[in-house]
Amino acid sequence: MSETSPATMPPANTAASRKVFIKTYGCQMNVYDSQRMGDALASGGYVATDAIEDADLVLLNTCHIREKAAEKIYSELGRIRRMKADRAEAGKDLTVAVAGCVAQAEGEEIIARAPVVDLVIGPQTYHRLPEALSRVAKGERVVETDYAVEDKFEHLPQASARQVRSRGVTAFLTVQEGCDKFCTFCVVPYTRGAEVSRPFAQIVAEAKSLAEAGVREVTLLGQNVNAWTGEDAAGRAVGLGGLLFALAEIPGLTRLRYTTSHPRDMDDELIAAHRDLGGLMPYLHLPVQSGSDKILKAMNRRHTAADYVALIERIRAARPDIALSGDFIVGFPGETDADFEDTMRLVETVGYASAFSFKYSARPGTPGAEMGGHVEESVKTERLARLQALLRDQQMAFAKGLVGETLSVLVEKPGRHPGQLVGRSPYLQPVVMPESVGEIGDVVEIEIADAVANSLIGRGTPATQSFGMVA
Ligand code: SAH
Ligand code: SF4
Ligand code: F3S
Repeated sequence: MSETSPATMPPANTAASRKVFIKTYGCQMNVYDSQRMGDALASGGYVATDAIEDADLVLLNTCHIREKAAEKIYSELGRIRRMKADRAEAGKDLTVAVAGCVAQAEGEEIIARAPVVDLVIGPQTYHRLPEALSRVAKGERVVETDYAVEDKFEHLPQASARQVRSRGVTAFLTVQEGCDKFCTFCVVPYTRGAEVSRPFAQIVAEAKSLAEAGVREVTLLGQNVNAWTGEDAAGRAVGLGGLLFALAEIPGLTRLRYTTSHPRDMDDELIAAHRDLGGLMPYLHLPVQSGSDKILKAMNRRHTAADYVALIERIRAARPDIALSGDFIVGFPGETDADFEDTMRLVETVGYASAFSFKYSARPGTPGAEMGGHVEESVKTERLARLQALLRDQQMAFAKGLVGETLSVLVEKPGRHPGQLVGRSPYLQPVVMPESVGEIGDVVEIEIADAVANSLIGRGTPATQSFGMVA
């Protein structure tokens, strides 16, 4: 991708000594966006730093999904305010920018509530970051939260091969943004806007350049990644399945994943990709949120628990070794004990290899927040504990079931202890291995000797006392 003018930093900010500290909250899409913003800033002369106290520019890439996530930002801004005051006393400056979903949702409110903030920039306008920073340099406080008509990805520079390599052998690639589903609990349709798919050719080109730089596994990202649509090189209309078939042809790209999917968008082409593509990892994150049809309806998920189970059966028929992951919300307004028991039953029926579960958090502006029948905090706490205990048992049983099997593992990095390497199983579990298995970037076959806390132990791994903490 060309480094077009909107991403070129104006002279006021090009001093090579300027350092940027980026802190990322929320989902993988924010991780990807932070990297792309980092790339844009690097091409404008900024150097990334891991130490906030060294930074000239602090960029918080924020998440609005639950109340706690949003409140974290304001406490972080409180700390930064004190830092900026100390700097000012020493005659030094600090620029503070808030990006991401809190920026989009709260815009001007952030400027009013946190005077330390110089710039608020929403996820659709990251390509305007350099220009916005130059306005800040002239003394303006800038709020940039319009839904831009131009394609931000076209205008953001891509990472150099060196930058890509420094991030390792796995990479994220956003293919789709936004959401038109409007689940009644969720802020994403408001913070990320309508569903937009990146063009096929742009995605293939980015995946190729990642592979050429040494990336072996790409995870395609989208708030509703399986709603991706496009036209392939022959002009044929394709969905995510078709895109995966094309990406599987790229030399060097040995593994593919995608996240997050909505059950309603799992079509036949995508299920066929799971059946036919060895490189598409047999691990699927398919959130269901609740096992109660009444609650699913109130959540506007537009499927029943039985639809979900039938879908899982179709996917398992196509790819019998597929492992499932999910998201669950407990305590949605109107959820009774019986509704919650339906969720427990669904979890038992499906059997998850991993999962994320949350207490419902009322988000301003969403229909859920206006509904009657809000559930007591203590009830939510109790339900979450029960659900998490069940999910933890399932996760451990799944991991223990792999002991004695030989898995293909992508070697990612050195372990925490000498003589170890760490990789990922097809099911996304960290695997600790002896360094004799191969090099970083190799896919190796290794027998699993044990399963502990959050990782698997490959046969022959030198013993240590803290295997559980490698992730
Ligand atoms: N697009 C994905 C989910 C994105 S948000 C999907 O459709 O499944 C990630 C997860 O956060 C959701 O799956 C949901 O479980 C949780 N979540 C979203 N809004 C929430 C809220 N208001 N309270 C609690 N959890 C929420
Ligand atoms: Fe949120 Fe629902 Fe869209 Fe997922 S599908 S991002 S939960 S509105
Ligand atoms: Fe959070 Fe926005 Fe992702 S609200 S989960 S950062 S899309």
